[in-house]
Amino acid sequence: MTEIMHPPEPFKIKMTEPIWLLPRKQRYEKLKEAHYNLFFLRSRDVFIDLLTDSGTGAMSQDQWAAMLLGDEAYAGARSWEEFYSVANDLTGCEHIFPVHQGRAAERIIFSVVDTDGKIFISNGHFDTTRANIESRGGIAIDLPDENAKSPFKGNLDIARAEELIKQKRDRIGGLILTLTNNTFGGVPVSLENIRQTYELAKKHDLPLYMDIARIAENVYFIWKYELNEEGDDLWEIGKEICRYADVLMMSAKKDGLVNMGGMLCVRDDTLAEQIKIDLILGEGFPTYGGLAGRDLSALAVGLKEAFQLPYLEYRIGQVRYLWHRLKEIEIPVLKPHGGHAVYVDAAKFYPDIPPEKYPGQVLACMLYLEGGIRTVEIGSVMFGKEENGKFIPAPKELVRLAIPRRIYTQSHMDHVIRVFEQVKNKESFCKGFRITKAMPYLRHFTAHFEPVN
Ligand code: F0G
Repeated sequence: MTEIMHPPEPFKIKMTEPIWLLPRKQRYEKLKEAHYNLFFLRSRDVFIDLLTDSGTGAMSQDQWAAMLLGDEAYAGARSWEEFYSVANDLTGCEHIFPVHQGRAAERIIFSVVDTDGKIFISNGHFDTTRANIESRGGIAIDLPDENAKSPFKGNLDIARAEELIKQKRDRIGGLILTLTNNTFGGVPVSLENIRQTYELAKKHDLPLYMDIARIAENVYFIWKYELNEEGDDLWEIGKEICRYADVLMMSAKKDGLVNMGGMLCVRDDTLAEQIKIDLILGEGFPTYGGLAGRDLSALAVGLKEAFQLPYLEYRIGQVRYLWHRLKEIEIPVLKPHGGHAVYVDAAKFYPDIPPEKYPGQVLACMLYLEGGIRTVEIGSVMFGKEENGKFIPAPKELVRLAIPRRIYTQSHMDHVIRVFEQVKNKESFCKGFRITKAMPYLRHFTAHFEPVN
């Protein structure tokens, strides 16, 4: 077996931000104060923050330089031109709308297209995408291809999608491809599957939506495992993918390599006019969306950097390193690993804790308690439901370790691995949780928990 190495970072560190590990006793107090919901922790009380890879990355010197040159004119700023030129080149869309983050793009598009009673079929809706569809009377259905060839476990199940379209053609609102497929492990979608989804959409005259929050990471997997490292221009692969979409939504907080931002891109002129009205009402003038000029300049640079091969080799290599080392110490990690995170199967980690007692939440709390690590539960806290007093669990009980871009080094990853080893050999401080307070949508953000024993 070849030893899995952590790739050397393709950058030097020019500025530092201190982090520290509170004593265990204090960490326990902080957990209680946060009602055992890690979203309520203060970041200064967290040592290694793997809550999300969204908006938590470090910008490059070129991005900071671009920020200083940002043009803050209300309309038609130079920063807008820089952003438009890069986004237009990538997506091939004439109509590009900056927005303050990904869910704003989702909110706007699903307000202007017909969602009432409509079914949207996806390889995996992200939770905000699902919420934006369902809160407008739509139905979001995930059809991931469980038999897809590794690593392309993010694929859409074309056969099942076509079957559903044939059964309910009049009620289908469109197809949605999420690249990479965050909900099912941050796993990529193959170029072949993207083309097949496009053909399916065209055959049935349906729009194809693409969520390209992590398109660069998806492209890396295609380049390495589907195109067998042919060529070295990953931007071109990104361009090809985008050509298949009618509508593109992006949270630029991921592969835009910025801390805030997003975009909505469409080809249809009528749709663009409707979006413009909504954008002006809610986000701002169409040449800035909800963003400052400097944000748009940094995004223009970040989008290009995200597709650079040395960066992606390091980025995916770091995830691979953590995944392999956890697997070596027999932590039940989801196979294969994705592009931005390692997912741990909490139902396997804690086989004695049933889904209705939220094993993922217990594991997430244990990782904080033992090592100051903040992660997120992606299981029945996030996707479980109560229907007529009956508990309906999520398909899987996962804990996600999302790795921020260009922030942590190998020794930080080694700390995470050590903490997992400790948690594995220790009894959990509780035998599960009960939710004592929750909102109807996206409840994981604000729920309160109480330990049950
Ligand atoms: N689409 C995907 C695939 C996402 O992962 C996210 C956010 C969004 C859309 C929404 O974007 O946060 O900018 O409004 N994912 C973050 C995460 C929150 O932690 O995975 P946003």
